[in-house]
Parts: sequence; C-alpha cells; structure tokens
Amino acid sequence: MLTCTTIEEVDHVLGPHRLSHTSIGFVPTLGALHEGHLSLIRRARDRDGIVIVSIFLNPTQFGASEDVDRYPRTPEHDIALLRSEGVDVLFMPSTEEMYPVGFETRVDVGRLGDVWEGEHRPGHFTGVATVVAKFLGIVRPTHAYFGQKDAQQLAVIRRLVRDLNLPVQIAGCPTIREADGLAMSSRNVYLSLEERRAATILYRALTAARDRYMSGEREARPLCQVMRHAIEGEPLAHLEYAEAVNPHTLQSLSIMDDTGLFIVAALFGRTRLIDNERCLGQ
Ligand code: PAJ
Repeated sequence: MLTCTTIEEVDHVLGPHRLSHTSIGFVPTLGALHEGHLSLIRRARDRDGIVIVSIFLNPTQFGASEDVDRYPRTPEHDIALLRSEGVDVLFMPSTEEMYPVGFETRVDVGRLGDVWEGEHRPGHFTGVATVVAKFLGIVRPTHAYFGQKDAQQLAVIRRLVRDLNLPVQIAGCPTIREADGLAMSSRNVYLSLEERRAATILYRALTAARDRYMSGEREARPLCQVMRHAIEGEPLAHLEYAEAVNPHTLQSLSIMDDTGLFIVAALFGRTRLIDNERCLGQ
C-alpha cells in the first residue's frame, strides 16, 4: 500500500492508472475504521482495478459545539486494516494540504443540507459537500463509495454529483450492524455500558415500524408513532426525530410506500446517534 500525504503524490501515483483507463474506486473516511468502512472498501475491491481510501478528519464538517479533537483517532490500527484489505493507495492529507491559506469556496447543497441532521448540525453538510467535491477533484475516481448508514449524506452527495455533473458514479452500500442491531459507528466508543445497551432501541424502533408497514399500515403518522413511542420508552435515549421520508428529497411522507425510508436520531448522554432503514429492508 502506498501512502500519500500530498495532492501531488496522489497525481503521481494515479497518473499511470488514469492513462491505462483502470477503474479507480474511492472510499473517503474520517478514520477510526470499523467493519462498516471495510464493507465499502471490499465493494470497491470487487469492482475497481485500483482502490484508494482517504483518512481525513475534516474540521469544516464539525460544528462549534462538536469537538473535533474528541473524535477517535486510531491511525496505526487503520493502516494495518487497510493493508490487510489490500488497499492500493492511502491518502492522508494534512489540514493545510486540503485547506491552504486563501481557500474560500464552499459548496452549498441547499435545502437537502438544512433538514434533519442539517438542522441539528448547522453547516455540517456544507463541510461534507465541500470536502467530498475537493476529494473527487483530486482523486477523479470512476466510483466513490458511501454508506447508507448516513442516508442524508448519501442523498447530499448524489445531489452534488448530479447538480455539478461530476464525472463519477456514486455507490450506496448497506449498513453494517453489530450482532444486536446497533449500526456500526466510530461514535459508538463514546457510549457507556448502559448507553450502549440502550442504543439498540434505534434499530428496534426502525424494525418495529417496518413490521407495522409489512402488516399493511401505509399512513406515516402511526408508523412514526411506533418509532417515537419505542425511543421515548427508553430512559437513556433523548429522541431528536423519527420520520418517514423520501430517500432522495428527504421530504416527510404522509403515505409510506416501498421506496420510503425511516430515519431516526437520538442522544444517549452526549453522544448523538443516527440510523435508518428502508421499509422493505436493504
Ligand atoms: P465516516 O464517518 O468515517 O464514514 C465513512 C464512510 O463509511 C461513509 O460513507 C459512511 O456512511 C460509511 N459508514 C459508516 N458507518 C457505516 C456502517 N455501519 N455501515 C456501512 N457504511 C458505514 O462519513 C464520513 O466519514 C465523512 O462525512 C466523509 C464522507 C469522509 C467526508 O468527510
């Protein structure tokens, strides 16, 4: 595995592959890698000739109240995992490399970035869209892989690529879960033992709504009530939202259909967790 820390090095390493039209698969990450990240990498490995992963703790997507310095960092462990997965190139730029003096451009994703997660984390999706647009410009991958776990982020990236005609195919990949259903997330390490146990309520709420849908309920209101009731019944969970939405526009639905998405967010102590499920499963 080759490790690049500068944009120039990435160009140098990928140049010959571009000339030979090898397909380039790209997986951007914040680091603290787990099985969720690895599932994206394996998809890239299966489809593309070259796999490049970035680890960059992007400061612009963290709000003033979120402590970027608190985010878990496990670089040695990450590098060993990437090696064992057969990743070809690791791009680990510094903040100065990504945001040199004079950097001014921000990618505003409009309404998609203002709702749900955007409402609770103002500016977050501008930070995500800006860094992803920049990475896509640097790496120029054939395919870029994102997790369905972050459903709103996936919708934002698809919108960005469509609106700006970026020449890349976006692949959405299924959510990888712990044995008890909790979606894998780098943030799970913040949970106390009790909070970790309580956090399974998110997936249980989603599956309860899905079961209700499967048994014939189509009205969003009672379906969302099932999720809210479940989460509010867990004393360690503080519900932020539980909704039925269109997965592309993220607009609330009044009638659920097979393409609809259930989305939930809750606080467990200081840790904010999100999850989602298609009403027909993944
Ligand atoms: P990060 O949280 O590190 O996630 C990197 C990628 O892994 C994202 O596409 C995310 O959706 C996916 N992922 C995380 N947990 C997953 C799980 N349990 N199952 C499947 N996929 C999972 O998302 C970011 O980083 C950043 O916002 C980034 C896109 C890198 C921009 O900075």
